[in-house]
Amino acid sequence: LKILFVSSEVYPLVKTGGLADVSHALPKALQQLGVDVRVLLPAYPAVLDKLTLTCVYERVNLLHSLPPVRILTGMMPDQSFPVYVLDCPQLYQRMGGLYQDAYGQDWQDNPLRFGALAKLAAFFGQHYFDFKPDIIHCNDWQTGLTPAYLAYSANPVHVRVIQSLHNMAYQGVFDPAVMSFLELPNISFNMHGLEYYGALSFLKAGIYYSHWLTTVSPNYAKEIQTPQFGYGLAGLLYERRQQLRGILNGIDTDDWNASTDTYLPFHYSRQDLTGKQQNKQALCQRLGLMHPEKPLIAMITRLTYQKGLDLVIPAIADILAEGAQLAILGSGDKDLENHLKHLATRYQGTLSVTIGYDETLAHQLEAGADIFLMPSRFEPCGLNQLYSMRYGTIPLVRRTGGLADTVVDTTPANLDKGIATGFIFDAEDHHAILHSIQRALLTFRDKATWRQLQENGMNYDCSWQQSAKQYIQLYKQVLS
Ligand code: ADP
Ligand code: GLC
Repeated sequence: LKILFVSSEVYPLVKTGGLADVSHALPKALQQLGVDVRVLLPAYPAVLDKLTLTCVYERVNLLHSLPPVRILTGMMPDQSFPVYVLDCPQLYQRMGGLYQDAYGQDWQDNPLRFGALAKLAAFFGQHYFDFKPDIIHCNDWQTGLTPAYLAYSANPVHVRVIQSLHNMAYQGVFDPAVMSFLELPNISFNMHGLEYYGALSFLKAGIYYSHWLTTVSPNYAKEIQTPQFGYGLAGLLYERRQQLRGILNGIDTDDWNASTDTYLPFHYSRQDLTGKQQNKQALCQRLGLMHPEKPLIAMITRLTYQKGLDLVIPAIADILAEGAQLAILGSGDKDLENHLKHLATRYQGTLSVTIGYDETLAHQLEAGADIFLMPSRFEPCGLNQLYSMRYGTIPLVRRTGGLADTVVDTTPANLDKGIATGFIFDAEDHHAILHSIQRALLTFRDKATWRQLQENGMNYDCSWQQSAKQYIQLYKQVLS
């Protein structure tokens, strides 16, 4: 089984969110199960810095508007799988973010940057290179044009394409003028094709032309067939529901292992949580939180509408008045960043706000916190609730997407059955958040029950083993 896995971000090379984590951990798990999987991504500066690469193809003509590109290859730093890297300095060698400049504006040439990536993936599918994949596994809008290029290929193509949907809110919708340099035939710009309300949608192309679709939790697979979560594509997803499957994300249990995690000052395990308490002390000291004896609630998040930070803000005063401390790590929306910084000054000593991206602090928060808050408006899967459970931190989440699939609410019945792992609320407002925090804080005082919740979460199997097997099953089904 030969799989080309195409992604615009791969941990630990480049990351803006969970897609990067999945694009490392899933191929790694597949490789361990005997699949020949290789990952294709762009040559951003950090990728060239962190990898030892050799050039395998010197001058590949992708699109007329681009100079010939190079294809480099190498192994991931942890030797988990080989990668192919698309080297085109004009597109990827620049300061700033993966998708946006330093001011948070999308790069103007994103359609060309990711059109080129998709075109190269299609070249692999057309067997232009030594590695001839059976399946191209595409991820999110950035790779959406791959099956469109293959659908209009002059030669017969046998490769199958699977498109994974990690987030329907990002679709790569551009002015139809970009058609001129993407070199797709005009007939493809059609309601039954790339066209989306007069514009060109990369994600719609991926959904329309792929052989199969997956998303990252069973619940989200159902949700996106409804207008509320489908972001304009619910109808098409409903039509394609026979080829749509939700497969729950796992986590990398080597990276997220409290007894070996190199980011943590103290190690601990399910049998002995002493180190967790010590991590909490150290964390409070690092963040200037004055009361390590009080329950600590953490959030690590992109600051966007999706994540519901704006729903937490009106509850902050009450949360702190309940006797909790709150630590937030995040970046994104500038207004939210400023608002949070302002609040941090006001509630110095009990509210800590760190703006930016900080892998070390993320691990220390997961280990040192008592409760992890995720009030997402929608959440295709979510990874932090899984990291939390593994680290003995109790997730408190909104009942949506993958959060609803992975966290089991603390009710008397679920406690009796030994399956309760966290706290769940429904309403999209700050009252519901506050109320469930009160519920959690009450349980926190009952040490035996809290320990039981930690046990249940730490026993929950969220490794990639099961889910990677489901992908293999799907690959085989798609090929048969
Ligand atoms: P999403 O992909 O929607 O952002 P996920 O829960 O799937 O949500 O994954 C988010 C990933 O990004 C997690 O690994 C989380 O720890 C990480 N992350 C998010 N924001 C930050 C940050 N500011 N600093 C460090 N890690 C972050
Ligand atoms: C997206 C989603 C998140 C999911 C991640 C990885 O960014 O927002 O819920 O866990 O992709 O699949």
